[in-house]
Amino acid sequence: MNILLLGAGGREHALAWKMAASPLIGRLICAPGNAGIAQEAECVALDLTDHGAVIAFCRANHVEFVVVGPEAPLCAGIVDDLEVAGIKAFGPTRAAARLEGSKGFTKDLCREHGIPTAAYQRFRAAAPAKAYLRERGAPIVVKADGLAAGKGVVVAQHETEAAAAIDMMFGGGLGEASGEVVIEDFLDGEEASFFALCDGNTAIPLATAQDHKRAFDGDKGPNTGGMGAYSPAPIIDAAMSARIMTEIIEPTMQAMKAIGSPYKGVLYAGLMITAAGPKLIEYNARFGDPECQVLMLRLMSDLVPALLASRDGQLKSFDLRWYADPALTVVMAAKGYPGHYARGSVIDGLDAATAIEGVEIFHAGTKAEGGRIVANGGRVLNISAVGKTVREAQERAYDAVACIRWPEGFCRHDIGWRAVGRESNKNR
Ligand code: AMP
Ligand code: GLY
Repeated sequence: MNILLLGAGGREHALAWKMAASPLIGRLICAPGNAGIAQEAECVALDLTDHGAVIAFCRANHVEFVVVGPEAPLCAGIVDDLEVAGIKAFGPTRAAARLEGSKGFTKDLCREHGIPTAAYQRFRAAAPAKAYLRERGAPIVVKADGLAAGKGVVVAQHETEAAAAIDMMFGGGLGEASGEVVIEDFLDGEEASFFALCDGNTAIPLATAQDHKRAFDGDKGPNTGGMGAYSPAPIIDAAMSARIMTEIIEPTMQAMKAIGSPYKGVLYAGLMITAAGPKLIEYNARFGDPECQVLMLRLMSDLVPALLASRDGQLKSFDLRWYADPALTVVMAAKGYPGHYARGSVIDGLDAATAIEGVEIFHAGTKAEGGRIVANGGRVLNISAVGKTVREAQERAYDAVACIRWPEGFCRHDIGWRAVGRESNKNR
């Protein structure tokens, strides 16, 4: 089968790496891809916002299945358009992707169906938003309704900070994304990501992970798309996983079906594990990046039949197998990320890094130029490893980082600190 994968990040490199190992693959093509993906798939330049061009490419190249990595094409309805054209596609329709595309939509759905989440209200103007803020007090969380590339959430410790966020958002600081704002209570607990695969009727749990959103060591600095992750998340044991399925994922599946927007694809729940149980922070309509990288390292089963079963509504009694060993990934980013950064610096030492036992490197913003790999984005490399323990995976990943010669890049040095701390406490 010929498969087209859409996207260009570390998530897509991990998906391409895993799919390339499937005996079901004929041609694996990726648009637009990156220098790492080019080692697993044919990369083609396609404008993903031009759905007509994507469809024409699929027809000309006998593509039978399209796998969509990032949220933007999903929210723009690429799955709808491909399916109308008779091409199978993995991921939610535009209406179902509202679970990620509109925070207000998801909050209302939670309220109607008793899905645990922070108390909230939706606003279209600053004055009532500020009145609500005064009523609830700080700490409090102000969120732009729409997609804002990770910049749409302000966790405010004080009312003045929350009021400034309200003014910024209604002042057009985030463009269309903040025409509407959600204000919700601050949740106290430990954050974790839970991934489920859905086929419109049935959801099966995939695996769990923990991300590191802040740019610098000690969870300091600005929020980013994610600076590293590990899987599994030790806070989510089997009992907690079962609760998340019955209290959050399954009611969401039923609710989406009931409103005529059955959800297919990966449902990524960002959760706060509080003293009162799991609460939904947000949904994403896709794999996480960099969480996907650690999930793919732990997936034993063939990914392709699972993605097809999600599309075909055949997940009932589908079984996926996972390696028990943990995986960890360290993101190397261009200095300046998530703010301004330069492109074009040369990266060396990748071969030596990959030669370390258990290590796999997934590229994000890279391109090949004159036989060398150069940086071509904010997040650039995902230095990933598996190990018998999180500590072993962490040591291997950082040994690999040490092999990489790229003075224009940086990474965090403490990815996995929480899980490694738990392991040491257990052994004490
Ligand atoms: P989001 O983009 O919705 O994932 O939010 C970004 C980050 O803000 C989350 O990963 C959390 O760390 C934090 N956050 C969002 N909502 C809340 C909340 N209600 N309480 C505490 N932290 C939150
Ligand atoms: N790593 C967070 C995300 O993919 O949204």
